[in-house]
Amino acid sequence: MIEKESLHASLRDPLLDSMNFLNQVVLRYPDAISFAPGRPFEGFFGLEDIQDGLRAYLDHLAERGRTPEQVAAELFQYGPTAGSINDLVARHLEVEEDIHVPAEAVVITVGAQEAMLLAVRALFADPRDVLLVAAPSYVGITGAARLLDVPVHPVPWDDPNDLAAPLRAAVAEQRAAGRRVRAFYLVPDHANPTGHTLALPERHALLDAAAELDLLVIEDSPYRLFTAGRRLPTLKALDRGRRVLYVGSFAKSAFPGARLGYAVADQVVRDRAGQENLLAAELTKIKSMVTVNTPSLSQAVVGGLLLRNGFRLAEANERAIRHYAGNLERMLAALARHFPPGSRDRPGVSWNEPDGGFFLTLRVGFPVDAELLRRSAEEFEVIWTPMRSFEPGGDPCAMRLAYSYVTPDEIDEGVARLARLIASEAPEAD
Ligand SMILES: Cc1ncc(COP(=O)(O)O)c(C=O)c1O
Repeated sequence: MIEKESLHASLRDPLLDSMNFLNQVVLRYPDAISFAPGRPFEGFFGLEDIQDGLRAYLDHLAERGRTPEQVAAELFQYGPTAGSINDLVARHLEVEEDIHVPAEAVVITVGAQEAMLLAVRALFADPRDVLLVAAPSYVGITGAARLLDVPVHPVPWDDPNDLAAPLRAAVAEQRAAGRRVRAFYLVPDHANPTGHTLALPERHALLDAAAELDLLVIEDSPYRLFTAGRRLPTLKALDRGRRVLYVGSFAKSAFPGARLGYAVADQVVRDRAGQENLLAAELTKIKSMVTVNTPSLSQAVVGGLLLRNGFRLAEANERAIRHYAGNLERMLAALARHFPPGSRDRPGVSWNEPDGGFFLTLRVGFPVDAELLRRSAEEFEVIWTPMRSFEPGGDPCAMRLAYSYVTPDEIDEGVARLARLIASEAPEAD
């Protein structure tokens, strides 16, 4: 028998249950309409994409003069820790995102999740070091920090266009308490969990603040491809001072089963002897003790996908982009139908109107928690996620609605069920 108290403190933190919770809640209530997990829609998965991607990558290796034995070794053998498709990812960033970095600045990782873990491990060295996150935040970063005993402090991101000022205030507060803010994490496009997107002037303001305050920014943006109109530039594309460590994920732009992501860390690291290296090389050392290398098969399939689409994943995802935009429109319309402006009978119901991504925030006039979620699943057959499961101190009355995994008809029916749940909790006012 092992006393739970004797295990690492993170194992008693409910934050570490939230990912499993999202996966399990869908399995536990298979008949419920699920607005809980931010999974991609399964209707666009095609086995031929895996075969075609692999074939394209193998052809690419052959064209570059590799012998059949070398090609076999690349797939079957342990691979380079930093990755084998770094040049293809660098080209993708250049062609599609206007991010210009050498392949040496890229580390291919097991999902964005590993990239976050490596970044947090490398940057946090002193007990006074703290990580700031735009809150409510994606649990992957706060969970990784928790595992590594790195303290996290929220920077409230309530108004999508007001982040630089709260960041400055949070840094001042931390510094006054004798702490060292090493980095600030955010998802600037269609954030998980809120759906917020940072407008262009605020992106510049944030980079100016990071430069003045001498902070690194960790930018994670897996949903940016799914923008209804024109995409804003990434912070990394606007970054002139190598302030931004960019975390990439192919979970949504390819498929999550590949577990493929990357870090772009072009910051220069200098040792006492004056030797210089890129931060990416330091992250690679850590990776060698975490996952050794990223599976070659996943790299080959995603590398092939990049090659087949001229390095532009927006084109490869055209149908999915239309699907998510359609779902967003459908969900906003369903909410507006059930909760018309000025309706006196449902006090306190409001939501934001993201311009893309997988999520939106619905606020209701009463606290939403795991118990209400259970009732919602069992009695109303609709599931969602309390915002507090992402940020324990956050808004108790807010829930995250994910509209990515469902069909348009399920959205209509799911919102109708949600409206019935809300009516049962907030009886009509006289
Ligand atoms: C903001 C954010 N970052 C990263 C990830 C995970 O990326 P990956 O599956 O590549 O680890 C997710 C997945 O839900 C996410 O929402």
